[in-house]
Amino acid sequence: MCGIVGYVGSKVDERAEAVVMEGLARLEYRGYDSAGIALVTGDHVSTAKKAGKLANLRAELENHPLPASATGIGHTRWATHGGPTDANAHPHRGGTDGKLALIHNGIIENFHPLRAQLLEDGVEFASETDTEVVAHLLAKAYAGDLKAAMLEVVNRLEGAFTLLAVHADSPNQVVAARRNSPLVIGLGEGENFLGSDVAAFIGYTKEAMEVDQDQVVVITPEAVEVCNFDGSAAQGKTFHVDWDAASAEKGGYDTFMEKEIFDQPDAVRDTLLGRTDEAGRLTLDEIRISEEDLKAIDRITIVACGTAAYAGMVAKYAIEHWTRIPVEVSLAHEFRYCDPIVSERTLVVSISQSGETMDTLMAVKHAKELGARTLSICNTHGATIPRESDAVLYTHAGPEIAVASTKAFLAQITACYILGLYLAQLRGGTYADDAAKVMGELQEMPAKIEEVLGHLERTREIARFMADTRSVLFLGRNVGYPIAMEGALKLKELAYIHAEGFAAGELKHGPIALIDAGQPVFIVVPGPDTPHGLHGKVVSNIQEIRARGARTLVIAEEGDEAVVPFADEVIRIPKSAPLLAPLLAIVPLQVFSLELSTAKGLDVDQPRNLAKSVTVE
Ligand code: F6R
Repeated sequence: MCGIVGYVGSKVDERAEAVVMEGLARLEYRGYDSAGIALVTGDHVSTAKKAGKLANLRAELENHPLPASATGIGHTRWATHGGPTDANAHPHRGGTDGKLALIHNGIIENFHPLRAQLLEDGVEFASETDTEVVAHLLAKAYAGDLKAAMLEVVNRLEGAFTLLAVHADSPNQVVAARRNSPLVIGLGEGENFLGSDVAAFIGYTKEAMEVDQDQVVVITPEAVEVCNFDGSAAQGKTFHVDWDAASAEKGGYDTFMEKEIFDQPDAVRDTLLGRTDEAGRLTLDEIRISEEDLKAIDRITIVACGTAAYAGMVAKYAIEHWTRIPVEVSLAHEFRYCDPIVSERTLVVSISQSGETMDTLMAVKHAKELGARTLSICNTHGATIPRESDAVLYTHAGPEIAVASTKAFLAQITACYILGLYLAQLRGGTYADDAAKVMGELQEMPAKIEEVLGHLERTREIARFMADTRSVLFLGRNVGYPIAMEGALKLKELAYIHAEGFAAGELKHGPIALIDAGQPVFIVVPGPDTPHGLHGKVVSNIQEIRARGARTLVIAEEGDEAVVPFADEVIRIPKSAPLLAPLLAIVPLQVFSLELSTAKGLDVDQPRNLAKSVTVE
């Protein structure tokens, strides 16, 4: 989400600022709401920070240059807590003596009680961020040793964070900490570096060191020290970076899309963060629609386009099951023109990665005119659609640069699950007690997505063999149906191959006529535990198309042996609750399209005729 850079050298000159600014430029793809820098300059820390792109910070530094320094930290922000303003930009100062500055990537889940305590202690805050809370905690804990203070503070924090701090009394060191958020060390000669990824320092060194979870790092010009959160010494693993500065902008992946596919465990993890209290109950304080109004909702209409609409289709199954509120999914560009049935008891949920899609924006405005409550699920802080809506539930997928949506899709489904469970909890009834249990299952999904990502070599091989394929069909039932549609969309967009997704039950009502010898068909198979015997029905569908010559590419749960006799290929995904399986089943389909597009030599990140944010109707 955010980009983080740290530098310590042995000379007080212009280098620290130059290194930090170059690192920020390379990390800007991670977030570009605001940027800032802190340099240790004599007996205090000098800072500059600006809302907007890095260019604004550059201009600020030209107009108001900072003194020379040997030690600096820098941050490029993708706003989570607090809008993208100068005040909310990092670094944040801790204490009142101007000696300590801190930057942060991640979300501090327990920042509310920590902030309340600090307010009680008389601390004055200059921003709305969770980061500033940590800066003040650090200043309070500081008694001459920044590492000791960091160790004390990190053990009080919940959530995900990479923290980098400097203190004027220890001018030759940067102290960092990491939990569930990226941090890597760059090893120089007479200087050392820190970054969210190696892109931050690739222009200066290719020797790097990994940092494990729950570790604190101290860099000085001559040394790197790593220890665990309990203070015990640790040994970092060094590695050589064998890519160049340009490709590192994609975090070492060939394309932004591949990087974003591999970002998906984090996209789901970050979207789940901070949305439950200590007792596991969902707490969506950000939804500014009163509980009374939410309880009175008797109908939900989801408006969205493309991939976001498929996320909405998955949501329909889950939200209806958990809340028993009828959910309708309407393509945003159709909604306005279909004389929709909407009242003040309708909740119109828009889903949009960019928050700027004109069709979706117009649907939201129309819904408001008709008196509906409007809630935006959006990945872009402060975009137009959330601003136009009564409430917003942000997805935390980080910036999605590839035109074809991948990680935003998983984050959107996750946010819809959160909304459905929250409504179930709020309204009581049969499924209210299940909310905490399902949240627990959801928390396990990032690790399962990682597992899927680790076993995709065969999928890639299949794709490479199919570079000349002219048509691929995708079948699914229940939540697998929108996944079939999304799988087909990815293939159309990325590989320019005719592809169609069908509800498997619809086959015999027409589409089965398309099947002839060798026709490739992906089938998303529900787990054997899916209610209503759905698994058996899909296995029958596979047999029906196989009997007519189809080449069956089956996505099935580990241990599901029933599919094996009828599958030309089986791609395995881990077991999961049936309603959550879309978060796993889509991943091989994304990678299949990515690989096939690459095999055809196409531009994966910028497919022809498309644009990332569709701002015209
Ligand atoms: C497909 C894709 C598009 C978008 C659609 C909505 O890969 O990216 O179908 O999902 O244009 O965009 P947002 O979510 O920005 O409203």
